[in-house]
Amino acid sequence: MPDAPARPADTLMMSLFHAALRRDLERAALLLENPGTLSLRRSRRLGRHLLWLMGNLRWHHEGEDHYLWPLLLEREPGGSAVLDAMKAEHDAIDEPLSRLESQSRGLVAGRTGPGEVLTALNALTEPLMKHLAHEEGEGMAIASRVLDHREWKEFEQRAWIDGSTATQSIRFLAWMADGVEWQKPLRRRAALPAPLYWSVVKPLSFIARVPGPSIWAGTPATQIKSRITPT
Ligand SMILES: [Fe+2]
Ligand SMILES: [Fe+2]
Repeated sequence: MPDAPARPADTLMMSLFHAALRRDLERAALLLENPGTLSLRRSRRLGRHLLWLMGNLRWHHEGEDHYLWPLLLEREPGGSAVLDAMKAEHDAIDEPLSRLESQSRGLVAGRTGPGEVLTALNALTEPLMKHLAHEEGEGMAIASRVLDHREWKEFEQRAWIDGSTATQSIRFLAWMADGVEWQKPLRRRAALPAPLYWSVVKPLSFIARVPGPSIWAGTPATQIKSRITPT
C-alpha cells in the first residue's frame, strides 16, 4: 500500500507572528498619537518595547532570507520572481526599520518626542504592511505547495527558535498569544492540548490588560487585538 501523502506545510506560525507585529505597531501608533497616555515611565518602556519588536523583526526576516527563500527556490525555480521580491522587500524595509530603532532609543533616553517616533513608525508601517500581505499571499502559497509540515517545522526551528534561551522563548510566545481570539478552527489548527489552552494560552490572550507585565494596560491600546490572516 503506498504511503499516505505528507501533510502540506501549515504556516500558522508565520500568521501568528505577523498578526502580533501588526497589533503592536497599531497599539504603539495609538499611544504616540495620544501623548496624554504616555507618562515618562510608559514612554521609556514603549521605546524599549519597540526596540525588542524591531530586534524580533530582524530575526524573522533574516531567518526567511537565509533558510526559507533559498529552499523554496530550489523546490520551485519558477517562483523566482516572487521569492526575489520577498528578499528585495526585506532590504527596502531595512532603512525605515533602522530609523525607528534610532528614534526608539531616543524615546528611552528622553531625547526624542512621541511625534518623531510616530513619523518613523508610519514610514516603516507602509512598506512593512505591504510586504506582510504579499508574503502571506504569494510567498506562503509556494511554501505550502512545495514543503510538507515536517519540513516547515524544521525551518521554523532552525530559523527562529535555535539559540534562544527558555526565558526569551517564553516571553516571545506570551507576546504572540496576546490578543488572539481563539476560535475553534484556529485552536484545532494550532493543535493545542486542552489543559495547556485553558490554563496558559487563553489567559495570555488577555495579558494586555494586566498592569505590570503589560505596557498597554489602562490605555485604549488594549482594544486592539491580533487578527490572524488565514494562509
Ligand atoms: Fe514573515
Ligand atoms: Fe518577510
